[in-house]
Amino acid sequence: MKNDELRYGDDVLGGASEVERRRLVAIAETNDPTTRALLRSLGLTAGWTCWEVGAGAGTVATWLADQVVADGGSVLATDIDDAALAMASAAPQPGLSVQRHDVVHDPLPDTRFHLIHARFVLEHLREREDVLDRLVSALAPNGIIVIESVAHGFIESSPHAPLREAMSGLEQVMAATIGTDCSWARNFPACFLARGLTDLGAQARISSTGGRNASATCWALTLQRLRPRILEQGLSSAEALDAADQLLSDPMFFDFVFSSIAGWGRRKGLREKTG
Ligand SMILES: C[S@@+](CC[C@H](N)C(=O)[O-])C[C@H]1O[C@@H](n2cnc3c(N)ncnc32)[C@H](O)[C@@H]1O
Repeated sequence: MKNDELRYGDDVLGGASEVERRRLVAIAETNDPTTRALLRSLGLTAGWTCWEVGAGAGTVATWLADQVVADGGSVLATDIDDAALAMASAAPQPGLSVQRHDVVHDPLPDTRFHLIHARFVLEHLREREDVLDRLVSALAPNGIIVIESVAHGFIESSPHAPLREAMSGLEQVMAATIGTDCSWARNFPACFLARGLTDLGAQARISSTGGRNASATCWALTLQRLRPRILEQGLSSAEALDAADQLLSDPMFFDFVFSSIAGWGRRKGLREKTG
């Protein structure tokens, strides 16, 4: 398969390896506290019908089910990846259903949702603008969509030359293979405004990577997964990749790498539409 035909899951990222399982857990550990605080601040409450798109390890979906299940709320967690689906359904929970679903190609669920959340999914899909259209159309009146995306961070200004080289190689190889766009979220929340949404908002966050924290683990494992392709495409030297790996496992090392940008908007209610 040519590089520009690859998709997430085509042996680039995703799949059933132990490295991928640990990577998904590390992503969740790094980002769940911020995601939970954001969703709470947007009014998440019992009774909501939610869709967690590209659920990965399933920790957000499980937590959401806990928040909404009273008053008849429910959560649909979807993913394309067998290993992710197995993780998300490992601890069955009232109100939570887990299904295989490709958000690019499969028909939308029949339900209309009070909340649709996707974290670190759309930036990896070439069809992201169409997917955003589809997700917005699956909102109930007054429903909220929240999209979180990896974005450029402080890589270029890192004082650690090997990390700079390795992480910029990582960004370039994701773009050259599956089409990841780390600039896309710079357009938040304007892309929600363009789709007629209201109550818009966006926030950026850069967490510390180092001290062997979950962020350091996540980026070390992502470099490990993409190392052969980074080398094949000449985007970093093996020496820089080795040195970056050592830094990321050093308890005394700290830096900032990618950022994470969240954007959100609300579909107009029925009265606003007709009035
Ligand atoms: C970087 S992981 C993020 C996982 C999780 N959302 C999180 O933030 O912890 C991206 C997830 O999106 C899933 N994914 C990729 N392409 C998808 C698609 N077309 N439809 C549904 N899920 C997809 C992957 O299988 C993977 O579980």
